[in-house]
Amino acid sequence: MIFDTHAHYDDSKFDEDRDELLASLAEAGVGTVVNVGCDIQSSQNSLDLSRKYDFIYAALGVHPSDIACLNEETFGWLRSHLHDDKVVALGEIGLDFYWEKDEAVRDKQRYWFRRQFELAKEEGMSVIIHSREAAQETYEMLKEMMAGSDVPVVVHCYSYSPEMAADFIKLGCHIGIGGVVTFKKAKKLKEVAKDIPMDRLLLETDCPYLAPEPFRGRRNNSALIAHVVDEIAGLRGISREEIIEKTEENARKFYGIA
Ligand code: NI
Repeated sequence: MIFDTHAHYDDSKFDEDRDELLASLAEAGVGTVVNVGCDIQSSQNSLDLSRKYDFIYAALGVHPSDIACLNEETFGWLRSHLHDDKVVALGEIGLDFYWEKDEAVRDKQRYWFRRQFELAKEEGMSVIIHSREAAQETYEMLKEMMAGSDVPVVVHCYSYSPEMAADFIKLGCHIGIGGVVTFKKAKKLKEVAKDIPMDRLLLETDCPYLAPEPFRGRRNNSALIAHVVDEIAGLRGISREEIIEKTEENARKFYGIA
């Protein structure tokens, strides 16, 4: 069944019909979802969702655009909940230089990226990376931080070149791909989805954002990954069943879910 490796079902865009929608996913072929934190509140929300629904697991972490919520106390909260039942990763963490132009704040992003990554290494947790307009620096930092460590790392919502993808894969990273791959103009991402080793591919929604064609611009949900599967099956010339089966196996290994 479909494994959505990156979703935000705690987002207010799901307030109206969250329970109904989540209850409908199994019938739509979705077997597992990891709900990912962006700040402390949404990390707590992810924990709550994972306790309420069997098929939902949680990732806890602070997104580079939300690091203002991090201090020693909230960092301590993250640390203390990493081994809660159903917490499977630290994330999403990383660098976002698209939204942040101020070099002093970018320094803070670097600081908290490193602190959170080191925490994941200490605790042996998988890591979900958010990286936007910071390809080279994300690569350099990961190269240094991943050396001598075997924590699984995914570059989520991958948005860089095929060449860069090859470099991340050499480091040992997985590549997360979602709705964007169905967009007509996403030529580089289609190339990435076609060429990366099958065992490094993870499927994701990043919902409520980034719905695939023909739902582009509307609210996304895990059932729409079917359209991403169709696209990648076409690109790689293999069956949709094979894509679903292999990416589910990849995701289970990645998150350590039996
Ligand atoms: Ni996300």
